[in-house]
Parts: sequence; structure tokens; C-alpha cells
Amino acid sequence: MMADKATLSLNGDSFDYDVKPGTVGPEVIDIRKLYGQTGAFTFDPGFTSTASCESKITYIDGDQGILLHRGYPIEQLAEQSSFMEVAYLLLHGELPSGQELDKFTYTISRHTMLHEQLATFYRGFRRDAHPMAIMCGVVGALSAFYHDSTDITDPHQRMVASHRLIAKMPTIAAMAYKYSIGQPFLYPDNSLSYTGNFLRMTFGVPAEDYVVDPVIERAMDRIFILHADHEQNASTSTVRLAGSSGANPFACIAAGIACLWGPAHGGANEAALNMLREIGTVDRIPEYIARAKDKNDPFRLMGFGHRVYKNYDPRAKVMQKTANEVLEKLGVDDPIFDVARELEQIALKDDYFVEKKLYPNVDFYSGVILSAIGFPTSMFTVLFALARTTGWVAQWNEMISDPDQKIGRPRQLYTGATQRDYVPVGKR
Ligand code: CMC
Repeated sequence: MMADKATLSLNGDSFDYDVKPGTVGPEVIDIRKLYGQTGAFTFDPGFTSTASCESKITYIDGDQGILLHRGYPIEQLAEQSSFMEVAYLLLHGELPSGQELDKFTYTISRHTMLHEQLATFYRGFRRDAHPMAIMCGVVGALSAFYHDSTDITDPHQRMVASHRLIAKMPTIAAMAYKYSIGQPFLYPDNSLSYTGNFLRMTFGVPAEDYVVDPVIERAMDRIFILHADHEQNASTSTVRLAGSSGANPFACIAAGIACLWGPAHGGANEAALNMLREIGTVDRIPEYIARAKDKNDPFRLMGFGHRVYKNYDPRAKVMQKTANEVLEKLGVDDPIFDVARELEQIALKDDYFVEKKLYPNVDFYSGVILSAIGFPTSMFTVLFALARTTGWVAQWNEMISDPDQKIGRPRQLYTGATQRDYVPVGKR
């Protein structure tokens, strides 16, 4: 039977703390009273043993390689549902009925346009700006355009802001791409699916009809599903932390995008493809494996390893299957895919990777697919951000609706100078 108290001995005193169970997964020791009782903090940089919140949205068992959204396994969602359905599920907690899904899809489609003045905003960026830089700026700027959905105390406004963010991200992403290649922006076509509309806004041109390829549309939709949410990862925690101060939702999501950009997080898909291209041919793999294992070389195998998954990342399996489908459909014979497959095989048998439980993650194969579809590497993280916005808004709504919600304010172990007197500059 599980303990309901944990006892801490400190300086000869003993303190009891409640142990709270989850519906599944590790229980937590509730240490909220610890500082008041003992005057001590816990020390956990990188939050490797810290649950920062209570949540009902996503569950991960990293040892078993399990990922559930509202209880549903990611493999089933990726195979059988659509991104719109998953967005509804994350936001509302249940799978939608047919009618609810139609209504939700319709609502999202009514928010796909961007305020016309935002097009001018794009023109302030250099043409060679990274699209993630543009996305951070434009999403942050949404709060300057949609004042009627920034009152976070009003659940209706919160939902409108959530719908706006989910709906406008494809438009913002496609416009960032169009701007970088000097093509005109395309307005959304709401007769298309969420994903079909995004593909058209990205790859279509005003002079021609764009026909959405159903295989690519399905693959892209699945990639969005696989990236939709992932529990309290760095960018989601950033969104929650930003939101805990009462910041408006557009600012919070912009903060999440900034965090996602890093190569250890969402930027890994771009880095993984760049790495595969740099390796180039199968015969060069051992050289890169050796570098990844060398403690004196900062090189890491991008797309490998995960803070939580110490078994295969279940998203990587679906991603690999999708890569096969897309490459076959497009008739792409990219040597990069051979390098990826071989690298995976070699790493999976290598003692270093086995011992450290380093497996391919979601980003390992996604770059291969996105590149085959025609996206430049700089767009990869933008697509991740587009999809993750559903998770971010769901997590943000959950946090704001929680009556126990407090501003996030971690403490520290201070190891700097103790108090000393100021010395005037002439005497130093
Ligand atoms: N290649 C080589 N060695 C690695 C790798 C890698 N990709 N990942 C971890 N290690 C080693 C690391 O050097 C360390 O070795 P040691 O114990 O001897 O110091 C050990 O494995 C544990 O690594 P860590 O950095 O302490 O683990 P972490 O949980 O803090 O980091 C990670 C997780 C994802 C940041 C890391 O595995 C990594 O940098 N991977 C490459 C980047 C990547 O693919 N990121 C995408 C993650 S999935 C999508 C997402 O969440 O955004």
C-alpha cells in the first residue's frame, strides 16, 4: 500500500508531508509547507524531480514509452483522429461528438484571418529573418490587435483567445514562409481543412489553383497531432510561468515560442536534419557516433535522447511510419533517409546509447518528412510551434481556471558573496 505521509528529518527535527497520488504515475510529496516549517528549500535545477502543477491533460510514462492525451494513447489518436479533434480533446477534456467537432472546426475556421495591419508588421523584418523570430514577434503583437480577448478573468474571452491562437498560427507560419521567399501572402481558404488550408497558404500562389494532396495533408495532420502537447516540457512550463503573472495569452504563447526555439527543445528537428545532411553518407556515421560519445566534444546526436522517455519515444515510431508513406508517395529517394535509418540502427546497438537509454525522439524523423514535403529547415520549429499551440492554450486555460493558482516564483541556493560594503571607484 502506498504511504500517505513522507517524513523528513532535518537538524534533529522531523516533519511530515502529505503524499498525493495521481490517477496513474508517480505520487508526489506535497512540500508546500516545507519552507514555512523548516526554513529550507528543495534544490532541483532542471526540475528533474519536481511536479510543478497538477494537470489532467497529458500523461507520459517515460520508462514504458507511453503518451496519453486525456487518457487516449497517442498512437490511436495519430492513426484514427484528426488534429482538430485532438485540439478539442486537449482543450475540453473529452473527444467531441460529430456535431461538436463540426462546430469547433467552423469556429476555428472563422478566426483564420489576421488583422490586415499585421501584414505591414511582417514588412518590418529582414527577408532573411528566421521564421521563428518572426513568429515570436507576430504572436506577441496579437495582443495589440485583439483587445477583446485579453481579460484572463473572463472564461469566454479566454476561449476566444484560445480559438484565435489555434486558428491564426497556420496563417502566421505560412506568412513567415512567404515573406522569406518574397511571394505574396495568401488569404486563408476556409473551405479547406485546417491542415489543407495551411498547405495551400504555404505552397500555393495566387496565379494558380492549389490542389491539396490527401496523403501529404494526412501526414501533415498527423505530424501536428504528434506535436500537440507533451505535459510540462520547457515551453509549456514557460507558458504557465508567464501566465501565472496574469500576462495576456498572446504574450504567454510568444514566450512559449521563444523557449521552443532552443536546439535542446523544438529546435532539435531543424538541428537533426542539418546533422543528417552534414553526415551525408552512411560510411561517415561511425565518425559522428564517436563524436557524440566524446566527452570533450560538445556534439550530440540531434533527435536522440529525451528527459522523460527512457524507452522509445512513441511519437518517433509513428513518425518513422509516416516518413515511409510520404517518401513513397512523393517518390523521393533521399539518401538522408538511409543515413537516418542506419544511424538509428547503429546507435541502438551502441553501448553508450544503450546504457544512457538514448533513443530516437519525435524530431529524428520529422525533418526527413518535412523536407520531402518541401519545407526549408528553418520552418521546422515553426511547424512544431503551430501544433504545440493547442497544448499551450489547453495548459494555460487549465492553470488560469485553477483556484489554487499562484504566481510561479522558484527560489534558489545562493552561493554568491555575503554582504560587503561598497567601495568608491577611485579606491578599487
Ligand atoms: N547525444 C549524445 N549524448 C547524449 C545525447 C545525445 N543526443 N543526449 C544525452 N546524452 C548524454 C549526455 O551527454 C549525458 O551524458 P553523461 O551522463 O555522461 O553526462 C546523458 O546522456 C544524459 O543527458 P542529459 O543532457 O543530462 O539529459 P537531459 O534529460 O537533461 O537532456 C535532451 C535531454 C533531450 C536535452 C538531450 O537528450 C539532448 O540534448 N538531445 C538532443 C537534442 C534533441 O533531440 N532534443 C529534442 C527532444 S524531443 C522534442 C522536445 O521535447 O522538444
